[in-house]
Amino acid sequence: MASKITPLLFRSAFRPARQASKQCRTFAASARAASDSLNVHRDSPENNASTPFKFTEDNNKIITEILKRYPPQYKKAAVMPILDLGQRQHGFTSLSVMNEVARLLEMPPMRVYEVATFYTMYNRNPVGKWHLQVCTTTPCQLGGCGSDIIVKTIEKHLGITPGHTTADGLFTFVEVECLGACVNAPMVQINDDYYEDLTPETTIQLLTALKESANDVKTTHTDDVEAPKGFIDGDDKNVNKGKDIGVAGSAPRGEILKKNGVPVPIPGPMSGRRTCENIKGLTNLTSEPWGPEVFRKDL
Ligand code: FES
Repeated sequence: MASKITPLLFRSAFRPARQASKQCRTFAASARAASDSLNVHRDSPENNASTPFKFTEDNNKIITEILKRYPPQYKKAAVMPILDLGQRQHGFTSLSVMNEVARLLEMPPMRVYEVATFYTMYNRNPVGKWHLQVCTTTPCQLGGCGSDIIVKTIEKHLGITPGHTTADGLFTFVEVECLGACVNAPMVQINDDYYEDLTPETTIQLLTALKESANDVKTTHTDDVEAPKGFIDGDDKNVNKGKDIGVAGSAPRGEILKKNGVPVPIPGPMSGRRTCENIKGLTNLTSEPWGPEVFRKDL
């Protein structure tokens, strides 16, 4: 009889402890965020339904052109380019931008919200003057020095982690998936430009130059200043387009720094290569081809 009762007693004794352990919860009650940004709208002073937003005259002309590409009954297909236009005008895709796009395209606002929150190129919150999007997908993790080192370099240099903006509002730093420049890994997209073949040194050089170019230094006379190799004017309208300065060495004096310009590296590979050719030069097909073909002399 006693041997039959003993297991029962044990079970009864441990039941409260088992139940208590089931009720214990870990501190992390929600799933880990898989993205740098939260796709839930929270009203803020600069992002709410009452924030005024209207497209400018010039952008209205562009919208008219965009809409001509679609049959009138399918004009909602233009939602993506018009959202992009709104973001470029306003700085980010605010609620008021999305509502205005919905109004223009006669769409339910929810349909516009769905698009804007699905594609990561729409920034749902204000970003800094320079939006650093570092690719951390596998080829960039493995290529060159590896994107892990680039991420750490940026974190250390700017003092922020991914998903944050520096206190001066100049840099917003996020990690993104493949941007299609894997052969020049590791790389970062800054606003609309790609900077590739990064190393910790060139990354710091780039960030420092961008920061300096933001100060709008009033430089007017530049004849006695020689721009470093592969550099252009900080104001990208003043890019020296006449010379291949990325490869050919120092650009001519006076043509690089103008007005308020501070030199910043030109977009593209920062290793000196032109695009994605072998950095060690030709390793095969090195002799002159037979027949009418000849090597290009400019390569
Ligand atoms: S993996 Fe980085 S650009 Fe493709």
